[in-house]
Amino acid sequence: MNYGTLYGVGVGPGAPDLMTLRAVETLKRAEVLALPRSSDYGASMAWKIIEPVIGKVPGQERLFLTFPMSKEPSRLRSAWDAAFSKIGEHLERGRSVAFATEGDPSLYSTFGYLQREAAQRWPGIRVEVVPGVSSIMAVPAITGTPLADGLERIAIIPANYGVDDLVATLNAFDTTILMKIGSEMPKVVAALERTGLIEKAVFVAKATMREQRIVRDVREVRSERGDCFAMVVVTRKERSGVLAGYVSPAAELAKVEA
Ligand SMILES: C[S@@+](CC[C@H](N)C(=O)[O-])C[C@H]1O[C@@H](n2cnc3c(N)ncnc32)[C@H](O)[C@@H]1O
Repeated sequence: MNYGTLYGVGVGPGAPDLMTLRAVETLKRAEVLALPRSSDYGASMAWKIIEPVIGKVPGQERLFLTFPMSKEPSRLRSAWDAAFSKIGEHLERGRSVAFATEGDPSLYSTFGYLQREAAQRWPGIRVEVVPGVSSIMAVPAITGTPLADGLERIAIIPANYGVDDLVATLNAFDTTILMKIGSEMPKVVAALERTGLIEKAVFVAKATMREQRIVRDVREVRSERGDCFAMVVVTRKERSGVLAGYVSPAAELAKVEA
């Protein structure tokens, strides 16, 4: 069978002008847009990002697909099956489908599951991934603290799957990124206090969106349920990469003048 091409398109962290040129082109050309949302009545964040840039393309179909926010496999499986089958109806008719995903499609995105299943569901199908600006890249741009350089190491933790080992992670890595915070904020703050790293942490919600919020004292959000677009980044900056111990000429001069 000649299936249409399936695209996984990263649409960036929220600001529409952070979509790549390739993402915009792919989204404009696709015959069908697959737009994930977390409930049948809720809005699709991906569509909210895309709409101001591409608007409603004549003849293009928009499929709003529900992927519930749940960790229960049976609930997820049946919703995903229904959504993937709807996508399949179009692919089987030879129509190209662009699955839009917030941030990048290769990081905690439902597209990853679709990508894995595509070869079994539609043998021989062409799948193309268009990378996007991930929230992991957007947050340090906003806080002004680079994630890592030189010998520094980074850990990425999906906090809602458990943070019981967080103290060990914080001690082992130079930078720790906590995504999917859910109801884990109290434990996250407790681990930061135990390790003495509370001042090295920053909480960012809805980075690059109009509602963006930066909280530099994470104790203020200790009892907050992480909104679904929030993360905590802990950057120790105790070893400054290849230039450890290097003092810039400007800093030397300032010392002499002081
Ligand atoms: C299901 S994952 C999707 C990640 C996405 N694929 C990416 O590349 O950023 C959702 C998590 O990403 C983080 N996230 C996504 N967008 C964000 C934003 N604009 N600001 C802060 N965190 C964000 C949050 O930790 C959220 O719980």
